[in-house]
Amino acid sequence: METIIDKLQKDYSIIGRREELKSSLIAARAGKHILLEGAVGVGKTTIALAVASHLQRKVIRIDGDERYTEQKLAGWFDPPLVLSKGYTTDSFIYGPLASAMLDGAILLINELNRMPEGTQNVLLTAMDEKIIYIPKFGKIDAKDGFLIIATQNPEEYIGTSQLSEALKDRFICITLDYQSENEERDIVRLRSKCDDNNIINVAVKVTRSTRDTEEIRRGSSIRGAIDLADLFYESFGKFNDDIGNWLECAKLSFLTKIELQDFTPKKFEETLKKIITKTLDEYKKEKMHGFSGERTNSPKQEIDIERINYLEKKK
Ligand SMILES: Nc1ncnc2c1ncn2[C@@H]1O[C@H](COP(=O)(O)OP(=O)(O)OP(=O)(O)O)[C@@H](O)[C@H]1O
Ligand SMILES: [Mg+2]
Repeated sequence: METIIDKLQKDYSIIGRREELKSSLIAARAGKHILLEGAVGVGKTTIALAVASHLQRKVIRIDGDERYTEQKLAGWFDPPLVLSKGYTTDSFIYGPLASAMLDGAILLINELNRMPEGTQNVLLTAMDEKIIYIPKFGKIDAKDGFLIIATQNPEEYIGTSQLSEALKDRFICITLDYQSENEERDIVRLRSKCDDNNIINVAVKVTRSTRDTEEIRRGSSIRGAIDLADLFYESFGKFNDDIGNWLECAKLSFLTKIELQDFTPKKFEETLKKIITKTLDEYKKEKMHGFSGERTNSPKQEIDIERINYLEKKK
């Protein structure tokens, strides 16, 4: 198992998350449907894709939203075809759920709780009895191997609905928290174009501070740190500790990624300025005491290789 996890981390450029990968793999191999739950940007989709691809089964991916109907999920009769052929198999368009069941494939549902409740309910019989009934079409049986891997934000997020107890009961739920500061630094090294350690360290510290600042209702995900490091690097080329420079990039990076208790542009700027001033201050003190910001758990070179591989893959 440990070797498989090493391979998954390497193949999918995943930093840390060994426990979550292990639980997901065990559940998937035992044929259990998996629900990965956590705040925005904690890596749910990344893990779901890695686990799904690892199982070497066909993966059908859908993204849930409030307009996702039962018909769109399961399948529907095409009206022009019904007119010419009637309600026959030929007039039926298989939706992602029916296709995944027939192929014994993995149905990857991103943002499950953004789907309307009625649509979510279509999954109930598919998940435990491995069948669905479609009016005028009949029964569809799932082939062996059919599995659902779903992701969702916690219920308090805007635009999400609560999963019914019955649906929750059919999943193995794996919760993802924010990762450690070291791991977040490694993620930014891997996913950003910035190769200045000082910029990366400060970008991560500022981002983490947005998560425990009184004026902020919802702090930023790692995407904020990636954007901040990229923007600062692009603007200034190397680290400097000018508060104005950091503020300029932070405003662009966080406007869509943090939620203030009461938003006004002035409050947004003041809050960020406070965080940046404190972070740069503490960072200078840390540096004076010899903190280098290097990885503590594996050499920097290893990350550079991973990053190069990742960039190669992206080309
Ligand atoms: N452990 C990790 N290792 C490497 N990259 C990561 C990790 N966690 C997150 N990322 C990166 O952070 C970004 C957000 O990850 P991802 O899209 O998987 O999050 P999510 O939880 O699905 O977000 P959302 O709630 O917005 O759907 C991506 O660029 C991803 O590659
Ligand atoms: Mg996602």
